[in-house]
Amino acid sequence: MADVVVLGIFAVDLAFEAPRLPAVGETLLGEGFRMGPGGKGSNQAIAAAKAGARTAFLTRIGQDAFADIALKTWNDAGVGTSAIIRDEGRATGAAFIFVSTETGDNAVIVESGAAGAISADDADDWTPLIGASKVFVTQLEQPQDAARRALQIAKVAGVTTIMNPAPAATLDDALLASCDFLTPNEAEAAGLTGRTVNTVDDARTAAETLRGRGVGTVIVTLGAEGALIHGEGISERVPAFHAGPVRDTTGAGDAFNGAFACALAEGRSPRDAVRFGCAAASLSVTRPGAAAASATRAEIDAFLSSDTSKDP
Ligand code: RIB
Repeated sequence: MADVVVLGIFAVDLAFEAPRLPAVGETLLGEGFRMGPGGKGSNQAIAAAKAGARTAFLTRIGQDAFADIALKTWNDAGVGTSAIIRDEGRATGAAFIFVSTETGDNAVIVESGAAGAISADDADDWTPLIGASKVFVTQLEQPQDAARRALQIAKVAGVTTIMNPAPAATLDDALLASCDFLTPNEAEAAGLTGRTVNTVDDARTAAETLRGRGVGTVIVTLGAEGALIHGEGISERVPAFHAGPVRDTTGAGDAFNGAFACALAEGRSPRDAVRFGCAAASLSVTRPGAAAASATRAEIDAFLSSDTSKDP
């Protein structure tokens, strides 16, 4: 049985480096290309496993070459795959990723493929794994109904729940109330609340709104500014770390969520788990790729013990 169970999608990322996105009708010469494992849920499961958690992933994949990449990736990272469903008639997910050669920032189009058919009934079938875990994590690249049911199953079982609300979507209060932790970035926090989120104070206001709608603790990830944790008895910005030049930010949010889940499953306080997640995210942005960029436990621990720069 796994301590961290993640529901989400796998996608093969086709990442193109260029100085800017082309305009419609324009062809632009690229400056680099990589193909590698992606999909927010899979990235988060891999990040949790590499950070040291016994981790299982719940998804649907096809019976194609991209599915072979998925299985090898999970096997290499030690992610449990016993509950994964193979769909003969559907392709495995794929994503177009633009990575700016100027800033390392990214833009993504993701097609969920077989994982787009994950249902609430699938979540019911996964009840034993979810219910036996310590921390359950999901996002919104698979249908929301499946996320909703799985979160309810986790809550009934007393499992700590994390929702990374990405891509941005409208969420009702019942769904928000089943999230012990909600981890939007600034754009997602803005989308969820209808408010502009540009500053830490904006993030705090948005987080308070989301808490008013039922979320336990809101963690707004702030990129280079770190993350704001806002919950019962705590409202604090945890700084980011500088681990080296920023190369690719694609997997940063997933690295954060996976490492955060791992740390919570180990019994760390939410504030310490956020710091652990920030360290993992800061390491990931110095490397290319999404899942491939996430750090091992040894790397995170070594980095945290050597860093004296920002943690109070
Ligand atoms: O969060 C990054 C991920 O989003 C990429 O790996 C891509 O596959 C999309 O799902």
